[in-house]
Amino acid sequence: MPTMGALHAGHLALVEAAKAQADAVIVSIFVNPAQFGPNEDLESYPRTMERDCDVLRACGVDMLWAPDASTMYPQGFATQVHVAGPSTGYCGGSRPGHFDGVALVVAKLFHQIEPDVALFGEKDFQQLAVIRRMARDLDFNLNIIGVPIVRDADGLALSSRNAYLTPAERQSALALPRALIGASQAIRDGEAVGESTARAMSDIKAAGFSDVDYFTLADAVTLEAMTGYDGRPARLLAAAKIGKTRLIDNIAL
Ligand code: PAF
Repeated sequence: MPTMGALHAGHLALVEAAKAQADAVIVSIFVNPAQFGPNEDLESYPRTMERDCDVLRACGVDMLWAPDASTMYPQGFATQVHVAGPSTGYCGGSRPGHFDGVALVVAKLFHQIEPDVALFGEKDFQQLAVIRRMARDLDFNLNIIGVPIVRDADGLALSSRNAYLTPAERQSALALPRALIGASQAIRDGEAVGESTARAMSDIKAAGFSDVDYFTLADAVTLEAMTGYDGRPARLLAAAKIGKTRLIDNIAL
């Protein structure tokens, strides 16, 4: 189970799912510089190692792998991993190089740990698609399992970055899951995809989000944008900024 730490109940759902799948559970914590852009939050990303260790011990994880950056990327490191296809667009469009960094570190972690099963949260839905593609393309002999999003009681998807939100932003942020639910119901009820997503975008802007990066219906496997809903597995994907914090969320159709 690769993580960047600052563990929350979403990560613990991954641990529980892992325990149901495997005899031994290994969690990695590594805030991976390769997946942060130059103007992103690498420095300020929450780091709570001591508490994370306590939490992992308490929930019966067998091993923690917490390498430092010079172990992962020793001097002279020169290799890149680029997964085309599902990396294109969405967060891949607004965070250039992000999924290359994710694919690189996850490939390394897979080699270091040699797991039979690897689990990732569905909140980072595009990340999951990129990792599935990479594992298939590079013949990693393991099963990738996506674990459903864990939400707070009021509906906000858990994220380590929620720690950045002020109480007022935290309240306004609820517009994002609400807009996803509303749009998914409207699309299922037959409303045109473009109309539902346009309304959802204006709703979340009215609630205080700025820079709506995308709010798009996509094929759940290829992530290709869908202009009409034809009943195949699809996902509404959204990313938007509230204050200085960029949030992502998604919902299945
Ligand atoms: O989702 C995350 O926390 C990270 O992107 C991951 C998969 C641990 C790779 O650094």
